[in-house]
Amino acid sequence: MNENEPHQGEFRITSENDIVMARKVVRDAATTLGFGLTDVTRIVTAASELTRNIYHYAKSGVMHWRVLNSGTENGLELTFEDQGPGIPDIEKAMEPGFSTGKGLGMGLPGSKRLMDELTIESTVGKGTTVVVRKWMRK
Ligand SMILES: Nc1ncnc2c1ncn2[C@@H]1O[C@H](COP(=O)(O)OP(=O)(O)O)[C@@H](O)[C@H]1O
Ligand SMILES: [Mg+2]
Repeated sequence: MNENEPHQGEFRITSENDIVMARKVVRDAATTLGFGLTDVTRIVTAASELTRNIYHYAKSGVMHWRVLNSGTENGLELTFEDQGPGIPDIEKAMEPGFSTGKGLGMGLPGSKRLMDELTIESTVGKGTTVVVRKWMRK
């Protein structure tokens, strides 16, 4: 990737249309970093689900993205942060098919499958932070 390209950014989610915009931000960042089309699609799909969760359950929030460097790999980290109702039982929320809404309950488990790492921190009444990472051999 080019030295002049930004290595991080953030995007505020306040409307349904921001789900579409967040997809574009993530697609551009992942493509610029050098991910192949298949991985770009995986990352964009996960970002779409996690942005959708912010919009549906918390109404608003922020997505941060940043480039990671380990010794041998580059990666992309996406953080989805909201001050919504929180998730009372994270283990349950991670089960395929579990939904408190009208969803399919595949957003969180699907995102974990599509990415290399997914961690959730959540406090009821305070909010939720979901961090996902995808790695790419240099
Ligand atoms: N940001 C969030 N804030 C509060 N609850 C959430 C959030 N994201 C997910 N959840 C909870 O976890 C459940 C599972 O999420 P997900 O796997 O995306 O399925 P779905 O959105 O289809 O219900 C949701 O039904 C909801 O109860
Ligand atoms: Mg969902």
